Amino acid sequence: MSAKTASITFARCTALLAGISSLATAAAAQQLAPQEAQVASRMQTAERVEVVPMSVIETPTGAAPIYRRDNGAPVGDNRNSKTAGDMGPVLLEDAHLIEKLARFDRERVPERVVHARGTGAKGMFRATADISDYSMASLFQPGKETPVFVRFSSVIHGHLSPEYLRDPHGFATKFYTDEGNWDLVGNNLPVFFIRDAMQFPDMVHSLKPDPVTNRQDPNRFFDFFSHVPEATNMLTHLYTNLGTPASYREMDGNGVHAFRLVNDEGEQVFAKFRWISDQGVKNYTAAQAKEAGFNYLTDDLYGAISRGDHPSWNLMMQVLPVAEIGSLDYNPFDDTKEWLDRPWMKIGEMTLDEVPENFFEWTEQSAFAPSNMVPGIEPSPDRMLQGRLFSYADTQRYRVGANLFDLEVNAPRVAEAGDGPLNNNQNGQLNRSGRESHVNYFPSAMAPKQTPARARYSNYEIMAMVDQKQIEKTPDFEQPGIFWRSLSEADKAQLIANLSGDLGQVVSDRTRTIMVSYFYQADPEYGTRLAGAVNVAMPDVMQAVAEFNAAAPQTFPSP
Ligand code: HEM
Repeated sequence: MSAKTASITFARCTALLAGISSLATAAAAQQLAPQEAQVASRMQTAERVEVVPMSVIETPTGAAPIYRRDNGAPVGDNRNSKTAGDMGPVLLEDAHLIEKLARFDRERVPERVVHARGTGAKGMFRATADISDYSMASLFQPGKETPVFVRFSSVIHGHLSPEYLRDPHGFATKFYTDEGNWDLVGNNLPVFFIRDAMQFPDMVHSLKPDPVTNRQDPNRFFDFFSHVPEATNMLTHLYTNLGTPASYREMDGNGVHAFRLVNDEGEQVFAKFRWISDQGVKNYTAAQAKEAGFNYLTDDLYGAISRGDHPSWNLMMQVLPVAEIGSLDYNPFDDTKEWLDRPWMKIGEMTLDEVPENFFEWTEQSAFAPSNMVPGIEPSPDRMLQGRLFSYADTQRYRVGANLFDLEVNAPRVAEAGDGPLNNNQNGQLNRSGRESHVNYFPSAMAPKQTPARARYSNYEIMAMVDQKQIEKTPDFEQPGIFWRSLSEADKAQLIANLSGDLGQVVSDRTRTIMVSYFYQADPEYGTRLAGAVNVAMPDVMQAVAEFNAAAPQTFPSP
């Protein structure tokens, strides 16, 4: 890829960042930004530089070590099987051959059910602001350094899929804090498609290849999304060039959900987190991404790190006082919405400076889970986050195994971790906990362990009727409209071209019409241009809009 091609820069929040990144304390960042200011600077044009991948093979010098079997015995011949003569069969007693094939047969663990294609890097986080008013989390003491492991990813296709396909892009960070691992498992886009974990498996099924033809099919996923108006914001972001980033280094990261922060006094606020790239945010057109090649995102990241060009990000935080959660015109725990009227404050910096020595051991076996939290950071009532608290740890016990925390990439780096088991969880496949004590129960006078009061879950009141229904405030079209109107004409044209490229393949008039009616409700110009591009008649769109508004929130026009 040598062409210097025009691309789009997503300078999300850089205007805000310029204004507030120098703030040292949480309390200092109080100036509200208007909603438009938060999205207006999102898209900018940038130049593409050539990718220089890291060089991987070095020729060794000196005597070669002896090749051995897994039991340590030296191997005399590693090219020829043991046979009964020149024309005879291979003997089962060739234990080295059997072991070699058997180990090969077991090389794969199940790939991640989503986000299978990814790239990991090690680095360091440094806290820059005192946010102890908000959270007791031990990593947030100004100047304190915490090692991190980051895995970037794409979502839908398999672990060897091309990196140029349109997708949200994962940005997962594992902070090895001195009070346990905190995983911030986010994406490059600030919102998500759906707001309830109940819908996640269905959504992923619709986006994954067809169970019959084994190919991804817009007829299927737009059929699903035609029932999900809350996806309008995410789809609008995804079909801009934000869906094809120019590199992982030039991507922001978003925690997306609200989290509950708790300070030493037990006082609480809600907060959102965002990584802002120091490299700026740059995106490709779909054609540029394809031209960049199969592995361009990994090549760029590993090439940059190996030549000492270490990428860095600022960690930003938004705060919402508990008393204000009802005052917004949307539900603040709805992950299809941004908090557009809240300021961002800078709370830390992260630099990635090391390519892991082994892809499988670090990147493939890494297990990021939103449930990996530390004292001072707790879940908000966000229904997606609540579902994720279960789902990740569950899949990882299956994908990696019950003893996944014994692996270096997942192991906590707390002081006690080197002295044997942290708790009474035990046994299972591949256990190497080093348990020597007779005591594998709690409490015990023979081997007492403390449960510090500061680590107790926080208290909060719930006054509610147990029920099963959609959230009450669902203004699903306002924010995608704000985003559309912030785009340049060139970015609007790209969005229409990208979106109509997929939606235009949908054969159902009903599905195309309903989808266009959602984008029309975000902004009439947006919907009208899209209607023309996907051959939908405007009177049909207007009828779908009328039917949508006449219907109960959960019901939609039928075919
Ligand atoms: C209820 C909704 C969701 C469910 C059930 C879900 C489930 C999963 C599962 C099962 C994995 C594979 C984990 C593994 O095998 O290690 C995964 C990976 C991932 N998910 Fe989700 N997900 C949900 C929503 C989200 C959202 C809203 C985001 C972004 C804010 C997100 C970001 C990611 C990322 C970045 C990864 C890859 C982590 C890594 O690099 O290993 N997911 N998700």
